[in-house]
Amino acid sequence: MKEIKLAILGGGSSYTPELLDGVAKRYLEGEFHAKEIVMVDIPEGRDRMETVASFARRMLSKRGMPCSLTTTVNRREAFDGASFVISQVRVGGMLSRRKDEHIPLKHGVIGQETTGAGGFANALRTIPVSLEFAREMQDRCPDAWLLNFSNPSGLVTEALIRYSDTKTFGLCNVPIGIRMGVAKALGVQPSQVSMDVSGLNHLSFVTGIWVGDHDATVTIFDSPLFDEYLKIEKYGARMGRFLKRLRVIPASYLSYYWCTERALREQLDDLSGEKGSRADEVMRIERDLFQMYAKPENADLPEALKKRGGAYYSDVALNSISAIVNNRPVVEALNVVNRGSVPGISAGSVVEVSCMVDARGPHPLAQKPLPPEVMGLVQQVKAYESLTVEAAVTGDIEKAFFALLNHPLIPGADTAQALLKDILEANKDYLPRFAGKAF
Ligand code: G6P
Repeated sequence: MKEIKLAILGGGSSYTPELLDGVAKRYLEGEFHAKEIVMVDIPEGRDRMETVASFARRMLSKRGMPCSLTTTVNRREAFDGASFVISQVRVGGMLSRRKDEHIPLKHGVIGQETTGAGGFANALRTIPVSLEFAREMQDRCPDAWLLNFSNPSGLVTEALIRYSDTKTFGLCNVPIGIRMGVAKALGVQPSQVSMDVSGLNHLSFVTGIWVGDHDATVTIFDSPLFDEYLKIEKYGARMGRFLKRLRVIPASYLSYYWCTERALREQLDDLSGEKGSRADEVMRIERDLFQMYAKPENADLPEALKKRGGAYYSDVALNSISAIVNNRPVVEALNVVNRGSVPGISAGSVVEVSCMVDARGPHPLAQKPLPPEVMGLVQQVKAYESLTVEAAVTGDIEKAFFALLNHPLIPGADTAQALLKDILEANKDYLPRFAGKAF
Protein backbone atom coordinates (compact mmCIF):
# COMPACT_ATOMS: atom_id res chain seq x y z
CA MET A 1 0.00 0.00 0.00
CA LYS A 2 1.34 3.45 -0.93
CA GLU A 3 2.25 5.81 1.94
CA ILE A 4 1.54 9.52 1.92
CA LYS A 5 2.03 12.58 4.08
CA LEU A 6 -1.15 14.64 4.38
CA ALA A 7 -1.24 18.25 5.56
CA ILE A 8 -4.60 19.74 6.54
CA LEU A 9 -4.83 23.55 6.53
CA GLY A 10 -7.63 24.61 8.84
CA GLY A 11 -7.06 21.40 10.78
CA GLY A 12 -9.03 22.76 13.74
CA SER A 13 -12.24 22.73 11.69
CA SER A 14 -15.08 20.73 13.19
CA TYR A 15 -15.21 18.90 9.83
CA THR A 16 -11.69 17.41 10.18
CA PRO A 17 -12.85 14.21 11.97
CA GLU A 18 -15.02 13.32 8.95
CA LEU A 19 -11.96 13.63 6.75
CA LEU A 20 -9.84 11.50 9.05
CA ASP A 21 -12.57 8.91 9.40
CA GLY A 22 -12.36 8.56 5.60
CA VAL A 23 -8.57 8.37 5.78
CA ALA A 24 -8.85 5.42 8.19
CA LYS A 25 -11.36 3.74 5.87
CA ARG A 26 -8.94 4.05 2.94
CA TYR A 27 -6.20 2.47 5.06
CA LEU A 28 -8.39 -0.42 6.21
CA GLU A 29 -9.52 -1.04 2.63
CA GLY A 30 -5.89 -1.13 1.46
CA GLU A 31 -6.10 1.96 -0.76
CA PHE A 32 -3.40 4.15 0.79
CA HIS A 33 -1.78 4.79 4.13
CA ALA A 34 -1.62 8.37 5.41
CA LYS A 35 1.29 7.51 7.63
CA GLU A 36 1.97 11.10 8.52
CA ILE A 37 -0.83 13.60 9.07
CA VAL A 38 -0.16 17.20 10.06
CA MET A 39 -2.93 19.50 11.12
CA VAL A 40 -2.18 23.20 10.68
CA ASP A 41 -4.04 26.20 12.03
CA ILE A 42 -3.47 29.80 13.06
CA PRO A 43 -2.28 30.49 16.62
CA GLU A 44 -5.78 31.71 17.66
CA GLY A 45 -7.16 28.34 16.53
CA ARG A 46 -4.64 26.28 18.48
CA ASP A 47 -6.94 25.15 21.31
CA ARG A 48 -9.67 24.02 18.94
CA MET A 49 -7.09 22.20 16.83
CA GLU A 50 -5.67 20.37 19.86
CA THR A 51 -9.18 19.26 20.85
CA VAL A 52 -9.85 17.94 17.34
CA ALA A 53 -6.41 16.28 17.19
CA SER A 54 -6.84 14.44 20.50
CA PHE A 55 -10.26 13.22 19.42
CA ALA A 56 -8.88 12.18 16.02
CA ARG A 57 -6.02 10.23 17.62
CA ARG A 58 -8.52 8.26 19.71
CA MET A 59 -10.70 7.68 16.65
CA LEU A 60 -7.80 6.50 14.46
CA SER A 61 -6.39 4.21 17.11
CA LYS A 62 -9.85 2.70 17.73
CA ARG A 63 -10.09 2.01 13.98
CA GLY A 64 -6.63 0.42 14.09
CA MET A 65 -4.81 2.85 11.84
CA PRO A 66 -1.18 3.46 12.87
CA CYS A 67 0.01 6.97 12.03
CA SER A 68 1.70 10.04 13.38
CA LEU A 69 -0.84 12.82 13.79
CA THR A 70 0.78 16.11 14.77
CA THR A 71 -0.33 19.71 15.00
CA THR A 72 1.50 22.90 14.18
CA VAL A 73 0.98 26.58 13.55
CA ASN A 74 4.02 26.58 11.27
CA ARG A 75 2.76 25.88 7.75
CA ARG A 76 6.17 25.58 6.14
CA GLU A 77 7.09 22.81 8.55
CA ALA A 78 3.87 21.00 7.70
CA PHE A 79 4.56 21.30 3.95
CA ASP A 80 8.00 19.65 4.18
CA GLY A 81 7.68 16.29 2.47
CA ALA A 82 3.89 16.55 2.06
CA SER A 83 2.34 14.65 -0.83
CA PHE A 84 -1.17 16.15 -0.48
CA VAL A 85 -2.37 19.36 1.14
CA ILE A 86 -6.05 19.91 1.84
CA SER A 87 -7.08 23.53 2.33
CA GLN A 88 -10.27 24.02 4.33
CA VAL A 89 -9.66 27.38 5.95
CA ARG A 90 -12.11 30.07 6.91
CA VAL A 91 -10.28 33.40 6.88
CA GLY A 92 -11.71 35.56 9.66
CA GLY A 93 -13.45 32.59 11.24
CA MET A 94 -17.15 32.20 11.84
CA LEU A 95 -17.50 35.86 12.84
CA SER A 96 -16.49 36.94 9.34
CA ARG A 97 -18.92 34.44 7.84
CA ARG A 98 -21.60 35.99 10.03
CA LYS A 99 -20.79 39.42 8.58
CA ASP A 100 -20.86 37.96 5.04
CA GLU A 101 -24.40 36.81 5.73
CA HIS A 102 -25.63 39.85 7.67
CA ILE A 103 -24.23 42.79 5.64
CA PRO A 104 -25.95 41.95 2.32
CA LEU A 105 -29.29 41.52 4.09
CA LYS A 106 -28.97 45.09 5.36
CA HIS A 107 -28.95 46.13 1.71
CA GLY A 108 -31.91 43.94 0.82
CA VAL A 109 -29.92 41.24 -1.03
CA ILE A 110 -29.23 37.57 -0.29
CA GLY A 111 -26.63 37.01 2.46
CA GLN A 112 -24.78 33.75 1.86
CA GLU A 113 -21.21 32.63 2.51
CA THR A 114 -20.49 31.54 -1.08
CA THR A 115 -23.16 33.10 -3.29
CA GLY A 116 -23.64 36.82 -3.93
CA ALA A 117 -22.06 39.64 -1.94
CA GLY A 118 -21.18 37.37 1.00
CA GLY A 119 -19.26 35.00 -1.26
CA PHE A 120 -17.54 38.03 -2.80
CA ALA A 121 -16.29 39.23 0.61
CA ASN A 122 -15.20 35.71 1.47
CA ALA A 123 -13.26 35.48 -1.82
CA LEU A 124 -11.46 38.79 -1.19
CA ARG A 125 -10.26 37.47 2.18
CA THR A 126 -9.46 33.91 1.13
CA ILE A 127 -7.77 34.28 -2.26
CA PRO A 128 -4.58 36.13 -1.14
CA VAL A 129 -4.07 33.69 1.74
CA SER A 130 -4.59 30.68 -0.54
CA LEU A 131 -2.04 32.04 -3.00
CA GLU A 132 0.41 32.29 -0.13
CA PHE A 133 -0.18 28.59 0.63
CA ALA A 134 0.54 27.75 -3.00
CA ARG A 135 3.75 29.82 -3.01
CA GLU A 136 5.01 28.15 0.17
CA MET A 137 4.20 24.74 -1.30
CA GLN A 138 6.36 25.60 -4.30
CA ASP A 139 9.27 26.03 -1.87
CA ARG A 140 8.63 23.09 0.40
CA CYS A 141 6.73 20.41 -1.51
CA PRO A 142 6.64 21.37 -5.20
CA ASP A 143 5.36 17.94 -6.27
CA ALA A 144 2.43 17.91 -3.85
CA TRP A 145 -1.22 18.36 -4.86
CA LEU A 146 -3.28 21.10 -3.26
CA LEU A 147 -6.93 20.13 -2.87
CA ASN A 148 -8.97 23.23 -2.22
CA PHE A 149 -12.16 23.06 -0.20
CA SER A 150 -11.85 26.62 1.15
CA ASN A 151 -14.87 28.65 0.14
CA PRO A 152 -15.88 30.06 -2.22
CA SER A 153 -14.27 26.95 -3.67
CA GLY A 154 -14.69 27.75 -7.38
CA LEU A 155 -13.27 31.26 -7.11
CA VAL A 156 -10.38 30.27 -4.86
CA THR A 157 -9.50 27.43 -7.23
CA GLU A 158 -9.65 29.80 -10.22
CA ALA A 159 -7.20 32.13 -8.45
CA LEU A 160 -4.88 29.24 -7.58
CA ILE A 161 -4.88 27.94 -11.12
CA ARG A 162 -4.42 31.33 -12.77
CA TYR A 163 -1.87 32.76 -10.35
CA SER A 164 0.22 29.86 -9.04
CA ASP A 165 2.21 26.92 -10.37
CA THR A 166 1.06 24.50 -7.70
CA LYS A 167 -0.84 21.46 -8.91
CA THR A 168 -4.34 22.04 -7.67
CA PHE A 169 -8.05 21.29 -8.03
CA GLY A 170 -11.15 22.29 -6.12
CA LEU A 171 -13.68 20.20 -4.27
CA CYS A 172 -17.34 20.52 -3.48
CA ASN A 173 -19.76 18.11 -1.86
CA VAL A 174 -22.88 19.19 -3.78
CA PRO A 175 -22.51 16.79 -6.75
CA ILE A 176 -21.67 13.83 -4.50
CA GLY A 177 -24.69 14.72 -2.33
CA ILE A 178 -26.90 14.41 -5.43
CA ARG A 179 -25.17 11.15 -6.34
CA MET A 180 -25.93 9.71 -2.90
CA GLY A 181 -29.59 10.71 -3.28
CA VAL A 182 -29.82 9.20 -6.75
CA ALA A 183 -28.21 5.94 -5.58
CA LYS A 184 -30.71 5.71 -2.73
CA ALA A 185 -33.60 6.38 -5.07
CA LEU A 186 -32.46 3.68 -7.49
CA GLY A 187 -31.56 1.24 -4.72
CA VAL A 188 -27.94 0.84 -5.88
CA GLN A 189 -24.52 1.49 -4.34
CA PRO A 190 -23.22 5.06 -4.77
CA SER A 191 -20.06 3.64 -6.34
CA GLN A 192 -22.20 2.22 -9.18
CA VAL A 193 -23.55 5.66 -10.08
CA SER A 194 -21.71 8.15 -12.24
CA MET A 195 -23.07 11.49 -13.38
CA ASP A 196 -22.51 14.09 -16.06
CA VAL A 197 -21.94 17.30 -14.12
CA SER A 198 -21.44 20.65 -15.82
CA GLY A 199 -21.34 24.31 -14.74
CA LEU A 200 -19.70 26.25 -11.93
CA ASN A 201 -19.19 25.55 -8.26
CA HIS A 202 -22.54 26.01 -6.51
CA LEU A 203 -24.08 26.53 -9.94
CA SER A 204 -23.55 23.15 -11.53
CA PHE A 205 -26.10 20.87 -13.13
CA VAL A 206 -26.41 17.12 -13.42
CA THR A 207 -27.40 16.38 -17.00
CA GLY A 208 -26.91 12.62 -17.14
CA ILE A 209 -27.01 9.69 -14.72
CA TRP A 210 -25.38 6.33 -15.30
CA VAL A 211 -25.57 3.10 -13.34
CA GLY A 212 -22.64 1.06 -14.58
CA ASP A 213 -23.00 1.35 -18.35
CA HIS A 214 -26.79 1.78 -18.21
CA ASP A 215 -28.16 5.25 -18.93
CA ALA A 216 -30.58 5.88 -16.05
CA THR A 217 -31.24 9.54 -16.90
CA VAL A 218 -34.76 8.95 -18.21
CA THR A 219 -35.67 6.71 -15.26
CA ILE A 220 -34.78 9.46 -12.83
CA PHE A 221 -36.30 12.41 -14.66
CA ASP A 222 -39.57 10.67 -15.52
CA SER A 223 -40.26 9.34 -12.05
CA PRO A 224 -41.42 10.84 -8.74
CA LEU A 225 -37.88 10.11 -7.52
CA PHE A 226 -36.84 13.28 -9.29
CA ASP A 227 -39.04 15.51 -7.12
CA GLU A 228 -37.74 13.83 -4.03
CA TYR A 229 -34.08 14.24 -4.88
CA LEU A 230 -34.32 17.64 -6.46
CA LYS A 231 -35.57 18.97 -3.12
CA ILE A 232 -38.34 20.42 -5.20
CA GLU A 233 -39.92 22.27 -2.31
CA LYS A 234 -37.14 24.83 -2.64
CA TYR A 235 -38.38 25.82 -6.08
CA GLY A 236 -42.12 25.31 -5.83
CA ALA A 237 -44.04 22.98 -8.14
CA ARG A 238 -43.97 25.25 -11.20
CA MET A 239 -40.19 25.75 -11.36
CA GLY A 240 -39.73 22.10 -10.39
CA ARG A 241 -41.68 20.99 -13.45
CA PHE A 242 -39.62 23.35 -15.54
CA LEU A 243 -36.34 21.82 -14.33
CA LYS A 244 -37.71 18.40 -15.07
CA ARG A 245 -38.47 19.40 -18.64
CA LEU A 246 -34.99 20.90 -18.97
CA ARG A 247 -33.54 17.57 -17.86
CA VAL A 248 -31.19 19.08 -15.29
CA ILE A 249 -30.75 18.54 -11.55
CA PRO A 250 -29.27 21.78 -10.24
CA ALA A 251 -27.03 22.45 -7.26
CA SER A 252 -29.48 23.63 -4.62
CA TYR A 253 -27.87 27.11 -4.69
CA LEU A 254 -29.81 27.76 -7.93
CA SER A 255 -32.77 28.56 -5.72
CA TYR A 256 -31.05 31.80 -4.63
CA TYR A 257 -31.19 32.95 -8.26
CA TRP A 258 -34.54 31.53 -9.32
CA CYS A 259 -36.49 31.98 -6.09
CA THR A 260 -34.72 35.08 -4.81
CA GLU A 261 -37.73 36.77 -3.22
CA ARG A 262 -38.62 33.69 -1.27
CA ALA A 263 -35.04 32.96 -0.13
CA LEU A 264 -34.63 36.59 0.94
CA ARG A 265 -37.86 36.53 2.90
CA GLU A 266 -36.75 33.38 4.70
CA GLN A 267 -33.34 34.84 5.53
CA LEU A 268 -34.84 38.06 6.86
CA ASP A 269 -37.37 36.09 8.95
CA ASP A 270 -34.56 33.96 10.40
CA LEU A 271 -32.54 37.04 11.19
CA SER A 272 -35.34 38.81 12.98
CA GLY A 273 -36.15 35.68 15.03
CA GLU A 274 -34.04 33.53 17.31
CA LYS A 275 -32.49 31.42 14.57
CA GLY A 276 -30.24 34.11 13.14
CA SER A 277 -28.24 33.43 9.99
CA ARG A 278 -26.60 30.11 9.13
CA ALA A 279 -23.35 31.26 10.82
CA ASP A 280 -25.28 31.83 14.06
CA GLU A 281 -26.72 28.33 13.72
CA VAL A 282 -23.35 26.75 12.89
CA MET A 283 -21.76 28.41 15.91
CA ARG A 284 -24.34 26.69 18.10
CA ILE A 285 -23.75 23.34 16.37
CA GLU A 286 -20.00 23.77 16.79
CA ARG A 287 -20.28 24.45 20.50
CA ASP A 288 -21.92 21.02 20.87
CA LEU A 289 -19.45 19.34 18.53
CA PHE A 290 -16.41 20.64 20.35
CA GLN A 291 -17.85 19.56 23.69
CA MET A 292 -18.23 16.06 22.28
CA TYR A 293 -14.75 16.02 20.76
CA ALA A 294 -13.33 17.10 24.13
CA LYS A 295 -14.76 14.16 26.11
CA PRO A 296 -11.96 11.61 26.56
CA GLU A 297 -14.38 8.68 26.27
CA ASN A 298 -15.57 9.75 22.78
CA ALA A 299 -13.83 8.15 19.80
CA ASP A 300 -16.65 7.96 17.22
CA LEU A 301 -17.99 10.60 14.84
CA PRO A 302 -20.79 12.45 16.64
CA GLU A 303 -24.29 12.40 15.12
CA ALA A 304 -24.35 16.21 15.36
CA LEU A 305 -21.77 16.38 12.56
CA LYS A 306 -24.62 15.55 10.18
CA LYS A 307 -26.12 18.95 10.99
CA ARG A 308 -23.27 20.57 9.05
CA GLY A 309 -23.68 21.06 5.30
CA GLY A 310 -20.43 19.54 4.05
CA ALA A 311 -21.23 15.82 4.29
CA TYR A 312 -19.23 13.55 1.95
CA TYR A 313 -16.59 16.18 1.14
CA SER A 314 -14.06 13.70 2.48
CA ASP A 315 -15.18 11.11 -0.07
CA VAL A 316 -14.58 13.46 -3.00
CA ALA A 317 -11.15 14.36 -1.65
CA LEU A 318 -10.05 10.86 -0.70
CA ASN A 319 -11.44 9.11 -3.81
CA SER A 320 -9.39 11.59 -5.84
CA ILE A 321 -6.25 11.06 -3.74
CA SER A 322 -6.65 7.31 -4.05
CA ALA A 323 -7.00 7.55 -7.84
CA ILE A 324 -3.83 9.69 -8.04
CA VAL A 325 -1.77 7.53 -5.67
CA ASN A 326 -2.76 4.21 -7.23
CA ASN A 327 -3.32 5.39 -10.80
CA ARG A 328 -6.70 3.71 -10.58
CA PRO A 329 -9.10 6.05 -12.44
CA VAL A 330 -12.35 7.28 -10.91
CA VAL A 331 -14.89 9.85 -12.07
CA GLU A 332 -15.57 12.75 -9.68
CA ALA A 333 -17.05 16.21 -10.18
CA LEU A 334 -14.23 18.66 -9.46
CA ASN A 335 -13.25 22.27 -10.05
CA VAL A 336 -10.64 22.37 -12.79
CA VAL A 337 -9.60 24.37 -15.86
CA ASN A 338 -12.36 24.06 -18.43
CA ARG A 339 -10.34 23.21 -21.56
CA GLY A 340 -13.57 23.10 -23.58
CA SER A 341 -15.37 20.57 -21.41
CA VAL A 342 -18.20 22.99 -20.53
CA PRO A 343 -19.29 24.58 -23.82
CA GLY A 344 -19.91 28.32 -23.62
CA ILE A 345 -17.36 29.02 -20.86
CA SER A 346 -13.87 30.16 -21.80
CA ALA A 347 -11.25 27.45 -22.03
CA GLY A 348 -9.00 28.95 -19.32
CA SER A 349 -11.70 29.46 -16.69
CA VAL A 350 -12.36 27.12 -13.79
CA VAL A 351 -15.56 25.07 -14.02
CA GLU A 352 -17.16 22.34 -11.96
CA VAL A 353 -17.29 19.34 -14.20
CA SER A 354 -17.10 15.55 -14.20
CA CYS A 355 -13.45 14.56 -14.37
CA MET A 356 -11.58 11.34 -14.83
CA VAL A 357 -8.88 11.30 -12.14
CA ASP A 358 -5.72 9.23 -12.52
CA ALA A 359 -2.06 9.50 -11.53
CA ARG A 360 -1.75 12.72 -13.52
CA GLY A 361 -4.68 14.28 -11.68
CA PRO A 362 -8.14 15.26 -12.94
CA HIS A 363 -8.99 15.37 -16.65
CA PRO A 364 -12.26 17.17 -17.44
CA LEU A 365 -14.72 15.14 -19.50
CA ALA A 366 -16.48 16.82 -22.45
CA GLN A 367 -20.10 17.71 -21.60
CA LYS A 368 -23.08 18.41 -23.81
CA PRO A 369 -24.17 22.07 -23.87
CA LEU A 370 -26.30 23.22 -20.96
CA PRO A 371 -29.79 24.35 -22.00
CA PRO A 372 -29.95 28.07 -22.89
CA GLU A 373 -32.51 28.50 -20.10
CA VAL A 374 -29.67 28.17 -17.55
CA MET A 375 -26.58 28.95 -19.60
CA GLY A 376 -27.03 32.75 -19.53
CA LEU A 377 -26.96 32.69 -15.74
CA VAL A 378 -23.87 30.48 -15.66
CA GLN A 379 -22.04 32.84 -18.04
CA GLN A 380 -22.98 35.90 -16.03
CA VAL A 381 -21.83 34.33 -12.77
CA LYS A 382 -18.56 33.36 -14.48
CA ALA A 383 -18.04 37.02 -15.46
CA TYR A 384 -18.60 38.00 -11.81
CA GLU A 385 -16.18 35.28 -10.67
CA SER A 386 -13.38 36.32 -13.03
CA LEU A 387 -13.67 39.97 -11.98
CA THR A 388 -13.70 39.01 -8.30
CA VAL A 389 -10.55 36.91 -8.67
CA GLU A 390 -8.78 39.78 -10.42
CA ALA A 391 -9.93 42.24 -7.76
CA ALA A 392 -8.75 39.98 -4.93
CA VAL A 393 -5.33 39.50 -6.50
CA THR A 394 -4.70 43.11 -7.56
CA GLY A 395 -6.67 45.12 -4.98
CA ASP A 396 -8.23 47.02 -7.89
CA ILE A 397 -11.30 48.66 -6.39
CA GLU A 398 -12.95 49.39 -9.72
CA LYS A 399 -12.73 45.69 -10.64
CA ALA A 400 -14.25 44.88 -7.26
CA PHE A 401 -17.14 47.25 -7.96
CA PHE A 402 -17.75 45.75 -11.41
CA ALA A 403 -17.59 42.26 -9.97
CA LEU A 404 -20.46 43.10 -7.64
CA LEU A 405 -22.34 44.95 -10.37
CA ASN A 406 -22.12 41.86 -12.57
CA HIS A 407 -23.57 39.57 -9.94
CA PRO A 408 -27.13 38.57 -10.84
CA LEU A 409 -28.26 38.94 -7.21
CA ILE A 410 -27.18 42.59 -7.00
CA PRO A 411 -29.71 44.98 -8.50
CA GLY A 412 -27.59 47.95 -9.60
CA ALA A 413 -24.70 50.35 -9.16
CA ASP A 414 -26.03 52.09 -6.04
CA THR A 415 -26.40 48.83 -4.13
CA ALA A 416 -23.07 47.53 -5.47
CA GLN A 417 -21.29 50.67 -4.31
CA ALA A 418 -22.92 50.70 -0.87
CA LEU A 419 -22.17 47.01 -0.39
CA LEU A 420 -18.57 47.43 -1.44
CA LYS A 421 -18.09 50.23 1.08
CA ASP A 422 -19.54 48.16 3.94
CA ILE A 423 -17.67 45.00 2.95
CA LEU A 424 -14.30 46.77 2.76
CA GLU A 425 -14.88 48.48 6.09
CA ALA A 426 -16.02 45.30 7.87
CA ASN A 427 -13.11 43.27 6.46
CA LYS A 428 -10.33 45.85 6.59
CA ASP A 429 -8.14 43.74 8.87
CA TYR A 430 -8.05 41.03 6.20
CA LEU A 431 -7.80 43.18 3.08
CA PRO A 432 -4.50 45.08 3.12
CA ARG A 433 -4.64 45.34 -0.68
CA PHE A 434 -7.67 47.61 -0.42
CA ALA A 435 -6.33 49.74 2.46
CA GLY A 436 -7.18 53.41 2.06
CA LYS A 437 -9.08 52.86 -1.20
CA ALA A 438 -12.56 54.19 -1.70
CA PHE A 439 -14.92 54.09 -4.63
C1 G6P B 1 -22.35 22.91 1.39
C2 G6P B 1 -21.36 23.54 0.47
C3 G6P B 1 -20.08 23.90 1.15
C4 G6P B 1 -20.36 24.64 2.42
C5 G6P B 1 -21.28 23.86 3.32
C6 G6P B 1 -21.70 24.74 4.47
O1 G6P B 1 -22.16 21.61 1.53
O2 G6P B 1 -21.09 22.76 -0.63
O3 G6P B 1 -19.36 24.71 0.28
O4 G6P B 1 -19.14 24.89 3.08
O5 G6P B 1 -22.43 23.49 2.66
O6 G6P B 1 -22.14 23.98 5.52
P1 G6P B 1 -22.35 24.67 6.94
O7 G6P B 1 -22.73 23.58 7.86
O8 G6P B 1 -21.05 25.34 7.29
O9 G6P B 1 -23.44 25.68 6.71
